Order: sequence, then C-alpha cells, then structure tokens
Amino acid sequence: MKTTETTSGNIDTLFIKTYGCQMNEYDSSRMADMMKEAYGLKLVASPADADVILMNTCSVREKAEEKVYSELGRYKKLKDKRPDMIIGVGGCVGQQEGERIQKRAPYVDIVFGPQTYHRLPDMVKQIRRQRVKLTEIDMPEIEKFDHLPKAESHGISGFVTIMEGCDKFCTFCVVPYTRGPELSRPVDDILAECQQLLAGGAVELSLLGQNVNGYRGTGLDGEEWDFTMLLYAVAELEGLKRLRFTTSHPMEMTDELCIAFGEIPQLMPYLHLPVQSGSDALLKAMHRGHDGDSYYRRIDLLRQHCPDIALSSDFIVGYPGESDMDFEATMELVRRVDYDSAYCFKYSPRPGTPAAKAEDNVPEAVKDERLQRLLSLTREQTGDAMQRQIGRRLDVLVEKESRTEGDMQGRTPDFKIVHFRGNPRQIGQVMPVHITEAYGQSLRGELILAGE
Ligand code: SAH
Ligand code: SF4
Ligand code: F3S
Repeated sequence: MKTTETTSGNIDTLFIKTYGCQMNEYDSSRMADMMKEAYGLKLVASPADADVILMNTCSVREKAEEKVYSELGRYKKLKDKRPDMIIGVGGCVGQQEGERIQKRAPYVDIVFGPQTYHRLPDMVKQIRRQRVKLTEIDMPEIEKFDHLPKAESHGISGFVTIMEGCDKFCTFCVVPYTRGPELSRPVDDILAECQQLLAGGAVELSLLGQNVNGYRGTGLDGEEWDFTMLLYAVAELEGLKRLRFTTSHPMEMTDELCIAFGEIPQLMPYLHLPVQSGSDALLKAMHRGHDGDSYYRRIDLLRQHCPDIALSSDFIVGYPGESDMDFEATMELVRRVDYDSAYCFKYSPRPGTPAAKAEDNVPEAVKDERLQRLLSLTREQTGDAMQRQIGRRLDVLVEKESRTEGDMQGRTPDFKIVHFRGNPRQIGQVMPVHITEAYGQSLRGELILAGE
C-alpha cells in the first residue's frame, strides 16, 4: 500500500447514482444516512457539485458493466479538474468486477459490494489520510445492519430491507453471486427500523428483499418466524396506513401468505410475483422450483381471498433452448392470469451463471419478435386494467406534487399512479378520488370532498 500523506480539502457534498432494484435504492439511502452522520455530507443533485461520488450499480442484465464505465468516464472529467474528489463504485457490479474496475478506471478510489458499504466512512477516512485505492468486496458474516446508523425518514413511503441475498440460484441470474446467501434480519431490528420511519413521517412501508417470502428470522419469542408472521407484526405498528413488499418467489408463496392479503387491512392488494416463463420445461431448466400449475394455484388462492388484487410479474424471453411452443405457453399464461403490469426482458447471458455456459441459441431477431408480442399483450392488459378504474372511487395516498402545476400525485391501493388537482398539504393523507381518465401508465381523477 502506498502511503503518501495528502492534504485533502474539506468534503461537504455527496452525489449518489443508483441503478437496479429497490434494495439498491434502500442501500443508497442508508449510505447517505451514514455519510451524513460520519462527515456531515449533504446530498446534491449533480455530480459536478459533489466532493464524493458514489455509484450504486446493478449487474442483473446486459451491458451493465459498460454502462458503469461510460458513466465513470463522465466523472473522470470532473475529477481531472478537482483531483481531491473521491469516486466510489459499489453495488452488484462492484462486487462482481472488484479490482478490475480500478485497473480499467484508475481514478476510482473505492470499490465495494452490497454487503460492505457500512465500511464506507472508514474507507473515506483512509483515502483522505493517504491517497490509496481500496477494494472491499468480501462477504462478511456479521451483518452490515449492525453498523448502520438509525434510518432517517425520507418521505411518506419508507423502505426496509428485511433480508439479504438469495439462495435460489436460478440459472440465468447473478444475484446469488453478487449479494451472497440469504440472511434474514431479526424481527426486533426490523420493527425498530419500521418504527423510526413511521416516527419520521412515513405512513407506508415496503419490506424489501430478493425473495421476502423466504424470510426466516429470529422472532420476538426467540423462535424462528416466517415472512407471514413478520407481516402480521409489522401491520400492528402504530401510524402505519399501508404495507407492501417486494419481491416474492412463487415457490415460497405459502397458503398463509396468500390468505394474509384478505386478512391484514394494511396489506395493499398488489403483488409482484415473477414467473419468468409459462413453459414447464423452461421453468425446470431455469431452476425455478415450481411449474405452471402450482403458479396458477397460488394465483387462484390469492384471488379467492383478495378478489381485487393486482398482479404483476417479470418475464424472460429467449432463454437458451426456448422453442416456439415454450414461448406460446408464456403467452397463454399471461392471457390466463391477466396482469395489471409486467416487466419483460430479453435473456442475456450473465458472467458466472450456469445458463451462460449453455449456448445463447435463440436468434436475436426471434428474441426481438417474442419480446414485441409479449409487450403488446401485457401493455394491452395494463391498458384494460387502467380503463376498468374509470368511474371508481379509490383511496389515494398522496405522495408528492406532480410535474404539472397545481396537480398532486399519489397511488391507489393496487399501486396505480393517480394525478389530480390538489394541495401539497394533502401529502401523506389517504384521500378519496373519483377516477375520470386512464392513460397507458397512470390515471387521472378528481378529489371527492367531504359530504360529496
Ligand atoms: N428476485 C426476483 C428477481 C430479481 S432480478 C425474483 O426471483 O423474482 C429481476 C428480474 O430480472 C428477474 O425477475 C428476471 O426477469 C430478470 N433477469 C434476471 N436475470 C436476467 C438475465 N440474465 N437476462 C434477462 N433477464 C434477467
Ligand atoms: Fe435471481 Fe432467482 Fe434469486 Fe430471483 S430467485 S434473485 S431470479 S436467483
Ligand atoms: Fe441488480 Fe443487484 Fe438488485 S444485480 S437487481 S442491484 S440485487
């Protein structure tokens, strides 16, 4: 390690660029909390104004690494002018690429992973003392959560990561390698963090994890609790109006969890339950651990207990070996389930995954065509789901001012965005709105005032 003492200038400001899933969003907000506590750093909206730039990256789909390097190129120009600037690359690309990042982009000071970001303040301290390059991508046994400061509320909707990592090893996916094994936080920790967010003004909480329903943590009685038990406990917290979670895995969607949608009033009628494919052969090849029929049974049970539930899913087209018949099975599943929203991706081989060893043998043109067909079907379903809302009176949690002046934006219980004429004082309240118009991705309505 080179140990040249430097006289680094003051650091006051922090810019964080976040890619990827909500767990990364959560991690970024915890990094901001931590850097605020350690150095009094203030978040700024532009990298040009920042003394410390952190990238929180995602490597789940194609070209992730290239995107990171091209963004880094922009930061290099800033750093050429202000050599004291500290640049860190964290998240799943950081974990995956490690020191390769600093080989290709030597102006990067810190590389870290999703499980080591609690060491950021120390790493920054070291860098300011001696201009060194640091890479911290081990997977520590101790939980990072024990080292994070209290969560600050960042608005009316709070996010809490309840478990880390993934043990499912779907053949196409990098997550088990970048985030490490499943690790559940103890229930008392989770409840304490939820309470802090509620005390800070949050009224909605989303529990996060790659597979939250794989949760198995130490309960309040010292026994192991599953995800449904945790949900019932969180729902009882004072001040909580709305409860959500993401993502869940079909394989661990227990009967109790499906039934909870009908029993917990705070639990909102929206579920993202990715299925990836409708073909049993592909589900098996992907190592998803369930078939089409058991997915339908879950959906039926959910709808039986919560008839209004809005369902959403992820799909991959063009997985190695996907035949026309396999793809038609996916289209059939989509028609049968009828989703309110869907995220559709073309398969891309990810380094180090088992599927990447198989030949990526579905021609690009075929992947494109399948993606287009799936997108047009799912968009039609989303459009229909939006249209069905017209004329309804829906409870909208007011989240923020929308871009049009005088308009407010909020969400329905089933997670649809609604715009309406309103007032910033309504932020954080649940207000009845009469839906008048539907667009591709959002709704428009009018507030129903008392007495109407
Ligand atoms: N834990 C979640 C998904 C996390 S990744 C789950 O199991 O459902 C988010 C989505 O990205 C996946 O659901 C999948 O549809 C997509 N995805 C992951 N790896 C991919 C790959 N190699 N190519 C294309 N899409 C991929
Ligand atoms: Fe990836 Fe599968 Fe784990 Fe989801 S369940 S994060 S798709 S390995
Ligand atoms: Fe991406 Fe890592 Fe999340 S790969 S989806 S940021 S777990």
